[in-house]
Amino acid sequence: MTYDYGAGPDLRVTATHPRLTVLGSGYLGVSHAACLAELGFDVLGLDTNADRVGALSAGHLPFFEPALQPLLRRGLDAGRLRFTTSYPDAARFGQVHFLCVGTPQRMDSPCADLSQLDACISALGPLLKDPCLVVGKSTVPVGTAASLAGRLARLAPAGAAAEGAWNPEFLREGRAVDDTLRPDRIVAGVQSSRAEAALQRIYAAPLSAGSQFFATDLATAELAKAAANSFLATKISFINAMSEVCEGAGADVAVLAEILGADPRIGAAFLRPGLGFGGGCLPKDVRAFLASVDQVGMGESLAFLREVDAINMRCRARMVDLTRDLAGGSLAGKVIGVLGASFKPDSDDIRDSPALEVAGVLHGLGARVTVYDPVALGNARKARPELEYADSVMEAAADADVLLLLTEWREFTEADPEILGKVVAQRRIADGRNALDQEAWRSAGWDYRALGRQDQAAGRLALPPAPCRT
Ligand code: UDX
Repeated sequence: MTYDYGAGPDLRVTATHPRLTVLGSGYLGVSHAACLAELGFDVLGLDTNADRVGALSAGHLPFFEPALQPLLRRGLDAGRLRFTTSYPDAARFGQVHFLCVGTPQRMDSPCADLSQLDACISALGPLLKDPCLVVGKSTVPVGTAASLAGRLARLAPAGAAAEGAWNPEFLREGRAVDDTLRPDRIVAGVQSSRAEAALQRIYAAPLSAGSQFFATDLATAELAKAAANSFLATKISFINAMSEVCEGAGADVAVLAEILGADPRIGAAFLRPGLGFGGGCLPKDVRAFLASVDQVGMGESLAFLREVDAINMRCRARMVDLTRDLAGGSLAGKVIGVLGASFKPDSDDIRDSPALEVAGVLHGLGARVTVYDPVALGNARKARPELEYADSVMEAAADADVLLLLTEWREFTEADPEILGKVVAQRRIADGRNALDQEAWRSAGWDYRALGRQDQAAGRLALPPAPCRT
């Protein structure tokens, strides 16, 4: 099979399997590189951090993603996967280069920080002598791909034969391998049929297993990611807004979510009420999307995303209020056990973690907060050294006036309320993820509370019935 990525028929690259590089060895980059090696490609991962490259070359994952570890090892052992800090090596090796560097929120604004992408193009572009495809995967404001493709063509000795494309990534932490090897859809924002054919060849295995393939222009591909994450965030904030209404109306948001989810037009996914969304993607992607369209005068179209963000941040404040309430009106000197630090289960990621933020605020309000998490303790300790940390659920719960479940790890949802009840000072629990069996906890004598659900102990409506207006 032959591939040509260049501008003309004389600029052809021939290979049965194009050689691939993956620039950026963060969460996305390592997952992508190891999965491509698993699919049989020769892959060179690049990162400017020599320690990280050393660790990866020795088979050590710098983050928690259990299913990825064996793939990393297999790729290294088979010689199909290597890591480097050298751009010249990457430029010489690769026929298709994937850009997987981070686009975090800027420190000074809600916009995406594109400096890592810019640095990648500046370093790689001048080294590209042969035809090649440079495929962005990071989440970016619409227009970025076209501008980077233009810059690449200007910088590269190969000129326009160093072609840009955009192939956004939709993987979830904790499910990185499955989402990469068996994605629902593959979006290829391309400028030529050659680029489309190259991406179809690279993704031949998932495509033959049923993944949908969408070939689009660059802008639609960029928007696909921003829009998908915004929609998911909107769904979560919708149910959390309903949770606020339920609190006022004396209704139960968990039951409401089930009823809504039973309608196939709505669907139950991403309709779990609770503490809201966090992590390295959804919060910053929503803000960056809004900021980027604001900048080009189209902010009105996405104004609702401001509310999505505000509702989400209110969840954290409501959780603090609920804890204060359970603690008897004041947090000063109260002992609070916190179960969960990561932004979601099966991850050690604490970026914008609702759990850790709530723990920090409670500490700031004078509570003695002890946090336990199965895998995120190391990261949590570094980010929030002011908190106390425990090595087990029992240790975190010891002498607690209030126990909080803030990340729904299985270890927590399966905890025995009877056993935990013996170590706490007071049997009071606030379930920040609506993940516990409330009946089981109530029957074990716990005062069980959750956002958007009735305070059964008080047994009253928070709002009086609305007056009828004629
Ligand atoms: C997300 C997108 O799902 C993924 O497609 C994209 O590539 C990256 O961003 P991820 O950040 O791994 O993935 O987490 P996700 O599983 O989407 O959860 C995000 C947050 O929403 C978590 O804090 C989770 O606890 C919260 N969430 C999720 C809810 O509060 N309710 C829900 O119903 C679902």
